[in-house]
Amino acid sequence: MTKQIPEIKMIDSTFNVVTEGYNFVGKRMAQLETDVFEARILGKKMIVMTGRDAAELFYDESKIKREGAMPKRIQKTLFGVNGIHTKDGQKHKIRKAMFMSMMTEERLAHLRTILQEEWKRKGLEMEQKKRAVLFDESEELILRAMCRWTGVPLTDAESWRRAYEVGVMIDAAGGVGKRYREGEKVRTETEGWIQEVIEAVRDGRMQAEEGTPVHTVAFHQEEGELLDAHMAAIELLNVIRPAVAVARFVAFAALALQNFPEWKNRLGTTKELNNFANEVRRFYPFTPFLPAVVKEDFEWKGYQFKEGRHVILDVHGINRDPRIWEEPETFNPDRFNDFVDDRFNFIPQGGGDPDTGHRCPGEPIAVMIIEESVRYLTENLSYYVPEQDLTINMVRMPTLPKDRFVMDNIKVKG
Ligand code: HEM
Repeated sequence: MTKQIPEIKMIDSTFNVVTEGYNFVGKRMAQLETDVFEARILGKKMIVMTGRDAAELFYDESKIKREGAMPKRIQKTLFGVNGIHTKDGQKHKIRKAMFMSMMTEERLAHLRTILQEEWKRKGLEMEQKKRAVLFDESEELILRAMCRWTGVPLTDAESWRRAYEVGVMIDAAGGVGKRYREGEKVRTETEGWIQEVIEAVRDGRMQAEEGTPVHTVAFHQEEGELLDAHMAAIELLNVIRPAVAVARFVAFAALALQNFPEWKNRLGTTKELNNFANEVRRFYPFTPFLPAVVKEDFEWKGYQFKEGRHVILDVHGINRDPRIWEEPETFNPDRFNDFVDDRFNFIPQGGGDPDTGHRCPGEPIAVMIIEESVRYLTENLSYYVPEQDLTINMVRMPTLPKDRFVMDNIKVKG
């Protein structure tokens, strides 16, 4: 029997999304005692869904597509216009294979070495400063590491400015007014910078080693043609930019070490470090939700999904769903000791299969950056955390600890 999808009886809920942020979906789900509701957001009727089964549905490509889902304002700041995030079917698979080809064991091991070297350098730099803001330092460190890894030249003189600009792009995704306009502006400039690198590699003015992401993207072909240089820049930035975004998780990881210090002495093994990184990705808010569109009419759990209807997956809520996580509001890395990942129950970076679907190809990179940062902070650095505001504003998307984790009296150990 067909059931009616519970509906929010408001002309438009955009104002509530903006003023309630990460809490918008969870609050409505609790009020309506449902996993699915309908609301008008940004002038469009949307089906909002939560839970593991909703994630499985969201990643079923026979029912759900991406074309027309991503708001242009998010493409113009965060992702770049018409990049991989918006593609479906065969076009998506060919483009995705390009990203996945960068993630070989060997290439990832090389990135780990680079991250370790960059942390050594950063430790000394922070020691000299004595007082530093971890979030800002991490953005710069990650940008340096990713430029080295991808093969994009970056001078010492420009690393802070470029890192700041990439950070502005990420921060603008959930912004309006000035915050949004600045994001749009720096995206144009940053795309120009990377496009120039792609063109230089293509016409031989710059050497790029085979296997590096800059080489892979510059010479990737679709239907016998190279990507348009601007699109190539967008996609190469789709590797560098989200890695810089991991600075948020680094700040959250430091906050976790501060708030739950008992875990500091429990990070000796690779598995313990990995559990800690995963719990940081689960526990702290990052991706709030994901958009898509119904491909053709179908029924799911008695609800009618009509072709063309927009859908939203509650990523943040699934990270805290009590049906998946015991005591979800407790920070407990040990929960990952016996956790069985079925690809739809732990989705801070999307669900399903990264090779064939839209799941983030950068999960190993994100986890590695958190692991190496936590390792360095706990094993090699001593610091004092001065009085500051470390509250997490759940209305702002994306969010981070308010004062971005200030550290004082920084010393490299030993
Ligand atoms: C896609 C989150 C780091 C590259 C995604 C998606 C999410 C996400 C939620 C969308 C999944 C979907 O549409 O179903 C994150 C978070 C990160 C992170 C929270 C860490 C802060 C990275 C890194 C890379 C990366 C380090 C570098 C390779 C991408 C790309 C896509 C993507 C290329 C598009 C995949 C596709 O559409 O097939 N990410 N990501 N991300 N991510 Fe990440």
